[in-house]
Amino acid sequence: MISLTVDREECKKCSSCILECPFDLINEDKEGYPQLRKAAVKKCIRCGHCMAVCMADALDITISPLAQSPAVNRDLLPSPEAVEHFLLSRRSIRSYKKKTAPHALLREILETSRYAPSAHNCQPVHWLMVEDPQQVQRLSGMVVEWMRELKVFPGLIRAWDQGVDKVLRGAPHLAISHADPAASEHPVEDCTLATAYLDLAAHGHGIGSCWAGFLVQAFQHYQPLIDELNLPENHKVYTALMLGYPKFRYRHIPKRDDLKISWL
Ligand SMILES: Cc1cc2nc3c(=O)[nH]c(=O)nc-3n(C[C@H](O)[C@H](O)[C@H](O)COP(=O)(O)O)c2cc1C
Repeated sequence: MISLTVDREECKKCSSCILECPFDLINEDKEGYPQLRKAAVKKCIRCGHCMAVCMADALDITISPLAQSPAVNRDLLPSPEAVEHFLLSRRSIRSYKKKTAPHALLREILETSRYAPSAHNCQPVHWLMVEDPQQVQRLSGMVVEWMRELKVFPGLIRAWDQGVDKVLRGAPHLAISHADPAASEHPVEDCTLATAYLDLAAHGHGIGSCWAGFLVQAFQHYQPLIDELNLPENHKVYTALMLGYPKFRYRHIPKRDDLKISWL
């Protein structure tokens, strides 16, 4: 059951909670204080924006209690220049140290990925973290098996036969996103955005990453690989990200295409 509590001593009747609710589920009571409409029981998407936007901390809502919703710390926010440099300095990493990342750190970056946007705030993304480097290698080997069966990517197969993993690049860890397609109208976007958050959170902690496109392609076709993961019934794999400490440090930001844009 969802309920909204308004501290009438503190509420400034500023209407921010009313205006920010994505589905207009808050209106004013007779005295001008916010109240939940009955439709909220069915239509609230649990975004918590009403509580989070209140300038006076006057709102509490059961789906995201104020006491469990940390305040935004403006002192910790990076400058626009820092954000830009952080984003531009992320690279796809294809050479990893053997050293594994601490379990707690892998968990921490996954926790950050929970705050990625998702359609209707469905949050359908599940993760399988392949933490054991040997298991990551095993999956690489299975992708190569699939390539061999289909007679595709001969260079990657040759490299594998010579002891070089060009599929998962010898990364010690691999995060695989999966979801029940029925749990969201946009599972592809939801998983992709969560993976982008994970990618950036990893970068913030000095962990290198690279999207594992070959593996995801193999998942779409190769049953032994699907069986190997033992995912919940109906779940599909959407993305995968290699993770580990980079062997090399990038010193420059490589050039990219000019912005392709038209203005209306
Ligand atoms: C959906 C997707 C799949 C990718 N798959 C692979 C892959 O299988 N192997 C790989 O080495 N890089 C892969 N990449 C990384 C791209 O090659 C890389 O993002 C691009 O070259 C730009 O380099 P940067 O990420 O360092 O800017 C993939 C990237 C995306 C977005």
